[in-house]
Amino acid sequence: RNVAVILAGGTGTRVGLAIPKQLIKIAGKTILEHTISVFQAAEAVDEIIILMTPGYLDPVHAIVRDGAYPKVTQVLEGGATRNETTSLALKALGEDECNVLFHDAVRPLVSQKIITDVVEALGTYEAVDTAIPSADTVVQVHDERGGDLDTISDVLRRDLLRRGQTPQAFRASVIRDAYEKAWQDPDFTATDDCTVVLRYRPDVPIAVVQGHERNMKVTEPIDVYIADKLFQLASAEEPEALDDDQYRAALEGKTMVVFGG
Ligand code: CTP
Repeated sequence: RNVAVILAGGTGTRVGLAIPKQLIKIAGKTILEHTISVFQAAEAVDEIIILMTPGYLDPVHAIVRDGAYPKVTQVLEGGATRNETTSLALKALGEDECNVLFHDAVRPLVSQKIITDVVEALGTYEAVDTAIPSADTVVQVHDERGGDLDTISDVLRRDLLRRGQTPQAFRASVIRDAYEKAWQDPDFTATDDCTVVLRYRPDVPIAVVQGHERNMKVTEPIDVYIADKLFQLASAEEPEALDDDQYRAALEGKTMVVFGG
């Protein structure tokens, strides 16, 4: 059984609106609803659980009302941090062995292909991440500033770096065990779920499935604008992610070739 957990417990401080960013409407639907739709349509997904910011459960109940998304079985309150929200989801799942796919509610442009690839990888691996190569060089800075600005401590090899996305998926027993150990560690901090497995179940290899640039996380105000544009581009074609040639085609007529001279 494959259970999708939609993590929507955040407040979207960086976007900075009065409502959580997952409730912003883009292309006629809230970001959260777009995300739910993708998992509802995913053949491999049997069940969906949504964890929402406390105080905002009503809009979610309105979205899933009248069986609009029949795979949704539970709508619950999230926790104070993303990791606490994940833990609450695991608690809600009970002790059954299943596959759990954690997905950020604010990645509404995830494709069916990514979900399929993640589920397929779970046939072989007990932990799976989704990531893309980094176009930018990633520099590491010193923990403490000597002066006004950060200073570089290391420049990491770009060919070995990936930018983590979601879904992150696990055999339930593995992620449950990792979190049990993590919460016993007073120094535990993380911003995702693969880190928890990496630290507390180092015996479990974590496979990396290829994500897509389109599977962006709406994080800053500019991302709402970008996501809106991407939805416009998609609705003209298939709702599924376009390939690079289709993006090139969408640029036809927008390019200006300047000949030197
Ligand atoms: N999330 C969650 N529970 C939390 C915090 C975050 O379920 N306590 C979810 C968010 O709703 C989002 C995903 O984790 O779908 C990724 O987190 P992020 O982009 O950091 O969301 P926010 O915490 O809402 O954003 P910000 O840090 O700007 O407040």
